[in-house]
Amino acid sequence: RLELRCERPGAELRLDGHPTLAVSRAALLPPPGGPGDAAGQELPVESRPFTSYGSALHIALPQAPRAGQLLTLLIDYEAGEGPGVCWLSPEQTAGKQKPYMYTQGQAVLNRSFFPCFDTPSVKFTYSATVKVPEGFTAVMSATSWEKQKDNTFVFKMSQPIPSYLIALVVGDIVSADVGPRSCVWAEPCLIEAAKKEYDGVIEEFLVVGEKLFGPYVWGRYDILFMPPSFPFGGMENPCLTFVTPCLLAGDRSLADVIIHEISHSWFGNLVTNATWGEFWLNEGFTMYAQRRISTEVYGLPYTCLEAATGRALLRQHMDATGEDHPLNKLRVVIEPGLWGVNPDDTYNETPYEKGYCFVSYLAHLVGNQSKFDAFLQAYVNQFKFQSITADDTLEFFLEYFPELKAKGVDSIPGFEFDRWLNTPGWPPYLPDLSPGQQLMKPAEELAELWAADSLNMEAIEAVDIMGWRTYQLVYFLDQVLQKSPLPEGNVKRLSKMYPKISKAQNAELQLRWCQIVLKNNLEAEYSKVKDFLHSQGKQKYTLPLYRAMWGSSEAARALAMETFSATAPQLHINVQNYVKKILGLGGAE
Ligand code: BES
Ligand code: ZN
Repeated sequence: RLELRCERPGAELRLDGHPTLAVSRAALLPPPGGPGDAAGQELPVESRPFTSYGSALHIALPQAPRAGQLLTLLIDYEAGEGPGVCWLSPEQTAGKQKPYMYTQGQAVLNRSFFPCFDTPSVKFTYSATVKVPEGFTAVMSATSWEKQKDNTFVFKMSQPIPSYLIALVVGDIVSADVGPRSCVWAEPCLIEAAKKEYDGVIEEFLVVGEKLFGPYVWGRYDILFMPPSFPFGGMENPCLTFVTPCLLAGDRSLADVIIHEISHSWFGNLVTNATWGEFWLNEGFTMYAQRRISTEVYGLPYTCLEAATGRALLRQHMDATGEDHPLNKLRVVIEPGLWGVNPDDTYNETPYEKGYCFVSYLAHLVGNQSKFDAFLQAYVNQFKFQSITADDTLEFFLEYFPELKAKGVDSIPGFEFDRWLNTPGWPPYLPDLSPGQQLMKPAEELAELWAADSLNMEAIEAVDIMGWRTYQLVYFLDQVLQKSPLPEGNVKRLSKMYPKISKAQNAELQLRWCQIVLKNNLEAEYSKVKDFLHSQGKQKYTLPLYRAMWGSSEAARALAMETFSATAPQLHINVQNYVKKILGLGGAE
């Protein structure tokens, strides 16, 4: 049931839909309390081709409504095997006992879940009644959750949100409290590990976030651990973040993902990019907010180290795609129609890390952290519950700092705001990460030692990596990867010397180790690549490894083909298609 207010008069209503969304009936309901058939007046509805990622539902109205008129529409439909609704068999879950279903809306997938205006520029509240089979629990991104009789769950989201933030999971899941307004949800076999990983740590992130950016408006902040094929590290569904089970590292070392999703509570979920062409407004500001919270909680050196690993990812991404690639602009042109960019293709390091650099540049122009923090808080307050463009953001910035506006900071040669937004390539300004040197330097020096033609084992053995933090190891491995292939035999030796790395169970370490194995053609450890790709299906882990295999030896290509044919059915459909494209198997685009 859609309750609409007419903005622009016209006798046709157009909604987003999908070929897998079977609409059986659309009807106009009489105004509440007024006369008319309660079943409503049936309306002609037609699904027409629109883009590669959805179709248009044309609904004819009996007459053009007046501007401002309220309409209530009832649509009967069935959602099937669309990209937004994932149906997992028991084998695809952690417990392997019961099936599981989840939805993933961002960017443009929820049009295969329900008919709607599937654009981040429209916000609305929602409610849902979900009936599930015995032995299953339903959860949604909603401010209230109530279990009624007959396995029926009732949800309400009382704050306006864009369509991509509506999310549903039905599975054999249970919860455990980890804070005054937070619990973890997971399959029963994972719940203990989930509780242990995050017990007592979430509240501090929320409190620091509120101190920096203003009130947390969503009520609860819960975390749901997804099955291993979940394609993202985390997804900021309001009230209920979805995360990969890879975060269960056992040592709380991957909490940056949680801090990131919490940061979306202000940047993305409250202030939202009006179009996916300006996705950086969500992710760049969120990366900045994440690192502000991280700085308060863990300190500047650690946060700079984490940011340096982010910068390495941006470097790798730009090297792989070419700096001038049109997706390496902050503002991407997304044309409607069959040949336009698919908004989901804008998911790469540019909106995140180049976006982070641009926000850091704005902070640098201000030159004072607390003044910039105050600006961020005012920005959230100004645009909360709205969808905006970068022009709105930058205009507000210049209004907020009139002395900067008077100096013309938007047009300093080489750093023009317009250049930031519209020119592809490496960021013209990089924030200073040198406070992280005390953690980075030992890692850089050790990587240097391992890259030498003849290994100085005495110097190597003098370095004790056992006490290093996970991100120090990640940074070290990124340096080794950059210098790879290393001289013959070095990687084998490194593998033997550091089982903490080569036998790691931490996904961030596993990814880097697999990349090093592939770049050095270390066939003896190919099974690690295979096992890692079998164990999880996160897009940011999966695609780089397939790219590395495909760009390598015959043996590596064979490994890619073999691994993909075994794991394809358990990958998210989007990830499947991206891998097919890498392997030349005729995937999407
Ligand atoms: N909103 C994104 C995930 C996303 C992006 C889903 C685009 C669909 C389309 C989420 O907040 C995110 O950025 N996750 C990152 C976390 C990381 C940057 C700490 C991830 O999944 O890697
Ligand atoms: Zn994000």
